[in-house]
Amino acid sequence: MIETKPDISLSQYAEEIRLGKVVAFPTETVYGLGADAWNADAVARIFELKGRPPDNPLIVHVNSIDMAGTLAADISEDAHRLMERFWPGPLALILPKRPEVLDIVTAGLPTVAIRMPDHPIPLRLIEEAGPIAAPSANTSGRPSPTRAEHVRQDFGSEIPVIEGGSCQYGLESTVLDLSIRPYTILRPGHITQSELEQELRQPVRLISTHSIKLTGMSGDTPRSPGMKYTHYAPDARVRWMRPDELPSPDPTTHGTLYLLHRIRPEDAPLPKTDNLIHYRENYTEMGRDLYDRFRMADLNRYSEIAIEPFSDSDEAVEALLNRIRKAIGD
Ligand code: TXA
Ligand code: MG
Repeated sequence: MIETKPDISLSQYAEEIRLGKVVAFPTETVYGLGADAWNADAVARIFELKGRPPDNPLIVHVNSIDMAGTLAADISEDAHRLMERFWPGPLALILPKRPEVLDIVTAGLPTVAIRMPDHPIPLRLIEEAGPIAAPSANTSGRPSPTRAEHVRQDFGSEIPVIEGGSCQYGLESTVLDLSIRPYTILRPGHITQSELEQELRQPVRLISTHSIKLTGMSGDTPRSPGMKYTHYAPDARVRWMRPDELPSPDPTTHGTLYLLHRIRPEDAPLPKTDNLIHYRENYTEMGRDLYDRFRMADLNRYSEIAIEPFSDSDEAVEALLNRIRKAIGD
């Protein structure tokens, strides 16, 4: 459950943001590291804290379609339709920006990513402090934080963190670029390609992790600059399980953490050891859990994380698969 603090304290956090401070807060996807989107110094501080490359733009969080209109030069009919259908929710839309949107927010791009989070805490902060630029609240290259504790692991007590329990989805929002044709998903998330196609009544392209990486390596400017960086990686090596590999039943050798998901026949029970997590085809749960497991594997000094491969390209696992591939560096 979401634990909200009394209003007075949320107002104090909003005041901090108005004063140009950086505050971490929960959203339905992952925790964000937020600052006033109109304050260049405050936004610069986010980049500094995260060690984020300056060519990786931020998502601006709003609490209404009207507020999105203060950032986007134009809200097309299609954009409006998606906002009506999926906001508040885990969908960031890339639209042409108004000239006054700060270059530091968009990394100099002519577009801006905007989303309305489905969480009472950021909605309240935005109501009091205006649009908030916020990347995930991890240091660059670490898995995104899905609990307040993860933010503290990366930043200690350097920044205030608003407690909000575990995030509902645990994977970052779908990023959809509406500034190009065909409309293109730059990062898969909870809102899927077919849901978007159904709403837009036209094909939507999904950039594969592979093509993003190739774009990044070829020297071209990738559409979504952040996609070219290795992301979401724990220190433990992440790899796919081999077809014949059986999880080691020895609870004393904590070299490998196994993440399994397929349901097995009753006659082939899995060993019960701490180093084996079985999601039993509950991919919502696996998505919610993934970054927490990555971080726990490091804390418990596992040397590697072996993940059972997915047999089909089921849309329900698209976002999960994308994050695992990135962690593997596949
Ligand atoms: O779920 C989320 O979206 C979370 C929560 C905090 O809202 N935020 C998040 O932000 O994941 P971040 O900065 O970790 O990821 C934003 C992604 C990056 O890959 C960035 O390159 C891309 O969105 N992006 C932002 N603005 C863009 C733009 N104008 N054009 C293309 N890609 C953009
Ligand atoms: Mg991030």
